[in-house]
Amino acid sequence: ATERTLSIIKPDAVAKNAIGEIIARFEKAGLKVVAAKMLHLSEEKAGGFYAEHKERPFYKDLVGFMTSGPVVVQVLEGDDAIAKNRDLMGATNPKEAAPGTIRADFAETIDANAVHGSDSPASAEREVAYFFSADEICPR
Ligand code: CMP
Repeated sequence: ATERTLSIIKPDAVAKNAIGEIIARFEKAGLKVVAAKMLHLSEEKAGGFYAEHKERPFYKDLVGFMTSGPVVVQVLEGDDAIAKNRDLMGATNPKEAAPGTIRADFAETIDANAVHGSDSPASAEREVAYFFSADEICPR
């Protein structure tokens, strides 16, 4: 079925000038960018996004990293978009990511792992709405 998912190109990948190469992978896989913007997240915005991880030992570092530089948030649309994006990204830990995935090719550590993608339909709905209002999404 056609789905929407939230993708974030994280500060490490933006700093590497890899925005275009990463978006090219989404497009080549048949996903369409239906919304996009560049943002430098505040602590409050990044902390709220990752609220489910608040009690995890890596939370503080995660928020620190996500506010360390600009990110590019996008809504990707396509058939099976949530799982397709996760396949393209590879495992959370780049050291475990399959060859040819975004994290294997652009990231070295679990903290600075190049991209985020929604992990379920429920989180996709929450995450898309966290960054985009309805009139910022352009179905095509
Ligand atoms: P992301 O998919 O954006 O969701 C939460 C992030 O926390 C994750 O990617 C990693 O970059 C980061 N993180 C750091 N340590 C861990 C860990 N032990 N388990 C899961 N995520 C971690």
